Amino acid sequence: MSKNEKILVLDFGGQYNQLIARRVRDHKVYAEILPYTVPLSKIKKGGYKGIIFTGGPNSVYDETSPHYTPDILSLGIPVLGICYGAQLTAWMAGGEISTAPKGEYGMIELRTAKSSGLLFEGIKRRSTVWMSHDDYISKPPKGFRITAKTDSCPCAAMENAEKKIYAVQFHPEVTHTEFGSELLHNFLYKICGCRGDWVMDDFIDKTVASLREQIGSEKVILGLSGGVDSSVVAALLSKAVGKQLTCVFIDHGLMRKDEGDFVENTFTDLFDMNFVRVNCKDRFLEKLRNVSDPEKKRKIIGKEFYNAFWGEIRKAGATAYFAQGTIYPDCIESGKGNADKIKTHHNRVKMPKDIKFEGIIEPLKDLFKDEVRAVGEKLGLPAELVHRQPFPGPGLGVRIIGSITEEKIRILQDADAVFRDEMAKNGYESQLSQFFAVITDVKTVGVMGDHRTYEYLIVLRAVTTDNFMTADWARIPYDLLAKVSNRITNEVSHVNRVAYDITSKPPATVEWE
Ligand code: XMP
Repeated sequence: MSKNEKILVLDFGGQYNQLIARRVRDHKVYAEILPYTVPLSKIKKGGYKGIIFTGGPNSVYDETSPHYTPDILSLGIPVLGICYGAQLTAWMAGGEISTAPKGEYGMIELRTAKSSGLLFEGIKRRSTVWMSHDDYISKPPKGFRITAKTDSCPCAAMENAEKKIYAVQFHPEVTHTEFGSELLHNFLYKICGCRGDWVMDDFIDKTVASLREQIGSEKVILGLSGGVDSSVVAALLSKAVGKQLTCVFIDHGLMRKDEGDFVENTFTDLFDMNFVRVNCKDRFLEKLRNVSDPEKKRKIIGKEFYNAFWGEIRKAGATAYFAQGTIYPDCIESGKGNADKIKTHHNRVKMPKDIKFEGIIEPLKDLFKDEVRAVGEKLGLPAELVHRQPFPGPGLGVRIIGSITEEKIRILQDADAVFRDEMAKNGYESQLSQFFAVITDVKTVGVMGDHRTYEYLIVLRAVTTDNFMTADWARIPYDLLAKVSNRITNEVSHVNRVAYDITSKPPATVEWE
């Protein structure tokens, strides 16, 4: 995969910044996101074929709003401003912005001008777009012409074709905009002159070749969690350097049922590498004994993981390279913050001072999650691993309410396995973003045969979401819930009641702790 062509997505704090970059990449053009605080000199040197200004939550007249030097419009690089980015483009070029008499939210009908220019080429004169704005461009700058409008927005799109500067008030990156994809394609190919060289086909060959060159005959170590990112890095490194790679897998005993064995079998059967599984369930359980405060539990699990992992690395002795599964979203600086504040790289491992490596290897740092999954599939990783749902670092620790005991882990693993089995059998696995069981610290009275029982309450949680910042509870059919409840109470000992969580996020979170 080469990336000679690059588009800059200049981030003004809009919620869709990553989505814009993803959509550009869907058209086989590499997109890079930088915060609006990036200096113009860096943009000049970047070799960009085009620049997209993202939306943002602000009004251009607000002094605290993110702005940029108007010189960016004179670089000769094509520009597409979206939403706040459109207003900013107009404002920088001398146009006027006002608060619209009526804001537009949601799906709105757009009408393009008779001659609507390259950006709208091949797009129907009337179509549906996604709007979300209170301000609008009330007077386009000199040299610009209006190319589309809506009932409430007299300038829903404008262009200065000569300077290749375009702006749209709506969001072409969201799927509700009927011809958003075609519009982006026009911008990339007809206006920026891209040819589309960001293709996944040769990513593996090129990455493997460059890893071989970088690592030479040295050794490399990787912390494998069983998650998608570290698994794909493991597969790539195994292909590149085989036994020079050692993967360390810390099994804290808080994985889902049989998951530790699955990870071990996958990597020892399918790939050439040294695989070290460190079973430290007892050590974790010991530290977690009688601790029920969620934050304390998280901290203990984090600290024990750190100690176990780096302890093992020390045991392994000198290794030149340390690899990790950092992906592109982990590296993006937020457009909202100030320039030197970089988003916390939660995927980047904290390293003790006494351990030094010659270099850090992050082969996935340019890829979005779905691109990582595509690479994983091509490398032959099992679908179960590649399409794995998110799983929290502290594992089942945040799904066991109250103190963590061996018995509660076992009950939860069994109940969760039943839930997952039924969801898979009934085709719900790929439709939902995440689903799992939780074991509460509550025991309730029940009846089994002629006997009174006093056993645990299991809660099922299933959500749909685009980004996990907000989520809705999944409308699973009653019959399926009935089947799961019936199986859990029959097959899992010490459970006599099952409930289904019908709370969205907010106010709840996805996990229970
Ligand atoms: P919440 O519970 O915050 O979860 O609504 C949102 C998403 O994040 C996952 N999650 C975590 N992932 N380490 C992780 O790597 C964690 O400590 C953690 N806590 C929650 C959760 O599973 C959901 O997908």
